[in-house]
Amino acid sequence: RTVYVNGEYLPEEDAKISIFDRGFLMADAVYEVTSVLDGKLIDFEGHAVRLKRSLDELDMAEPCSKEELLEIHRKLVEVNGIVEGLVYLQVTRGSDGDRDFVFPSEDTPPSIVLFTQNKPGLADSPAAKKGAKIISIEDIRWGRRDIKTVQLLYPSMGKMMAKKAGCDDAWLVEDGHVTEGTSNNAYFVKDGVIVTRPLSNDILHGITRKAVLRMAAEAQLKVEERLFTIEEAQGADEAFTTSASAFVMPVVEIDGVALGNGTPGPIATRLREIYLEESL
Ligand code: PDD
Repeated sequence: RTVYVNGEYLPEEDAKISIFDRGFLMADAVYEVTSVLDGKLIDFEGHAVRLKRSLDELDMAEPCSKEELLEIHRKLVEVNGIVEGLVYLQVTRGSDGDRDFVFPSEDTPPSIVLFTQNKPGLADSPAAKKGAKIISIEDIRWGRRDIKTVQLLYPSMGKMMAKKAGCDDAWLVEDGHVTEGTSNNAYFVKDGVIVTRPLSNDILHGITRKAVLRMAAEAQLKVEERLFTIEEAQGADEAFTTSASAFVMPVVEIDGVALGNGTPGPIATRLREIYLEESL
């Protein structure tokens, strides 16, 4: 695989980042994941805008222009022959060659790394046909989940807790209400109404969320953005999650309670189809 590191395209085994890089030492880094379908980047613009926002919120410099970023994405997709897959992008605050809690001086260049992940069958996924089983766990992450940082230890642990319980993923609960999934936004559907948590600093402002809510409105589906509990979602007709890496993923079980008849619901299935059609 050819990867991109700080201005260079390299074979992955030749790519290097300093051990003092703050991304490595302090998770002082932000990222984006953009999906590729039919060799095309899905919603690059949305991801570029959110990246800029994450960088601004952390007073981190932009490593390059949006145009350059698009060029790097396109080139990696091309040289690696990605038809279906992902492009991962990470920007870190870099390093001035030592460990210090204080940020390095402003002229310290940020580090930028991009790589592709080949995922044949991403669109026609067997997991989406089965639907996901979810457990709920407490949301103990920090208070700025709207910034897409690489502090992903707790979400990783949540996934592992789900796997150990024989499930696929976890939904996070704070003050009795669902915030989001470990790496996706969360929704349920009751009597034809789609319910999801409103945007705030408590959740990531999903690029797929925005697209799917627009498509839902265009399909005359009702959407309510409000807080909801696990119990309410368990009593729903269906549920789903959205993310750039799994699009619309039906949810068929929450904490051992099957939703509807325990198979992907009609609205989740339809939204997945619409999303994939419009993206291609
Ligand atoms: N995760 N919420 C969280 C906590 C996420 O990590 C993600 C994305 C989302 C969905 O956002 P989007 O629709 O923009 O992908 C919501 C990415 C895919 C990841 O970590 O791999």
